[in-house]
Amino acid sequence: MSHSDHSSRIPKFYQLSIAERRHVLRLRMDLTEADLAALESGGIDPTTADRVVENVVGIYALPLGLGLNFRINNSDVLVPMVVEEPSVIAAASNAARMVREGGGFQADADDPVMTAQVELLGISDLAAARARIEAAAPDLMNLAGATLPRLVARGGGPRALEVRVGEHPARIIVHIHIDCRDAMGANMVNTVAEALAERLASLAEGRSGLRILTNLADRRLVRVHARIPSAVLATGDQDGASVRDGIVAASRFAEDDPYRAATHNKGIMNGVDAVVIATGNDWRGVEAGAHAYAATSGRYRPLAVWHAEGDDLVGRLEMPMPVGTVGGTLKAHAGARLVQRILGADGLSSGRLAMVIGSAGLASNLAALRALATDGIQRGHMALHQRSVELVREQEQRPRDSVVDFKGGSA
Ligand code: MEV
Repeated sequence: MSHSDHSSRIPKFYQLSIAERRHVLRLRMDLTEADLAALESGGIDPTTADRVVENVVGIYALPLGLGLNFRINNSDVLVPMVVEEPSVIAAASNAARMVREGGGFQADADDPVMTAQVELLGISDLAAARARIEAAAPDLMNLAGATLPRLVARGGGPRALEVRVGEHPARIIVHIHIDCRDAMGANMVNTVAEALAERLASLAEGRSGLRILTNLADRRLVRVHARIPSAVLATGDQDGASVRDGIVAASRFAEDDPYRAATHNKGIMNGVDAVVIATGNDWRGVEAGAHAYAATSGRYRPLAVWHAEGDDLVGRLEMPMPVGTVGGTLKAHAGARLVQRILGADGLSSGRLAMVIGSAGLASNLAALRALATDGIQRGHMALHQRSVELVREQEQRPRDSVVDFKGGSA
């Protein structure tokens, strides 16, 4: 078997054994057997885990699969996905194959800017406090930069300072926008918030309250665009144009109704979280940012929408994507390190990772809407779900000799 090209299309991959799939992956990504060891162990051992979090009693693994057929900004990429839900990886791969027919995903990401918030309270003259803080902005930016010399050396650092005033209660909120380069940046941003708080409080002639990043990372957006010729969308019993119109109507439903938008966005997060988790990133931060962003207009809205353009179906996703490829827990997790190599053999920027994650989100959304607009979700879903139901049944029938009962003996 030779799969040494770099196409993300690998026909019949699902029919191969796990060992054969690993072999394909190894050839494609120029990996060694040793590199792949992380796939056997889950990427982290209890001793390492014990140094990452507290009160460790073990490790907890999830399945890692490859999203296929992804073409993003004219280059092919295998998309590692960690998820417990059957059909998410198959559905995303299937949708990515359709998007590929229209030229693939086109994506771009903002500079990796995260924002520190410093809350200032007990201020008697809000306007004067604001003016003093704004006048001191150049000094404050220098002070912020001095706390992050390594980031500044890598070309990142503080970019802007913004003062927001709240009246009830009287409160000033200072935002410091920081380019975190390839880091997610939470630690750096929190360091800056704490370093500037006392100086800001004295400028405001008040006291500092909370000092922490915001997860509404609306300066670190990813945008993904896909155009699909409608013929590609056809199913056994429905032509492409009517499937396209069904998807557009489903998108409209999500725009009209927050109850539907929540589920629509859940379908997007199926793809998003799977890649966020595979790369060792903070999925709670991504989730918080996604839903806060979805609600910024005052009404909860879909993070991706679809419309018809001529014969084509066109989809657009826009959402915050605060993820990193350096720092954090990433370094301790061999699985996350391997996933990162699969995504970018020559190094992976946080912006490129954001584009891959956004594409997985848009693919998952397309797959869900196409299924909902045609057969309904259950046919495909249940066929795959059945396999895990059978697995659970088999496991329950196995002798339970390794289960320890609550008295400490063997059951
Ligand atoms: C299931 O995990 C996700 C869906 O509910 C998403 C959607 O309804 O768009 C199928």
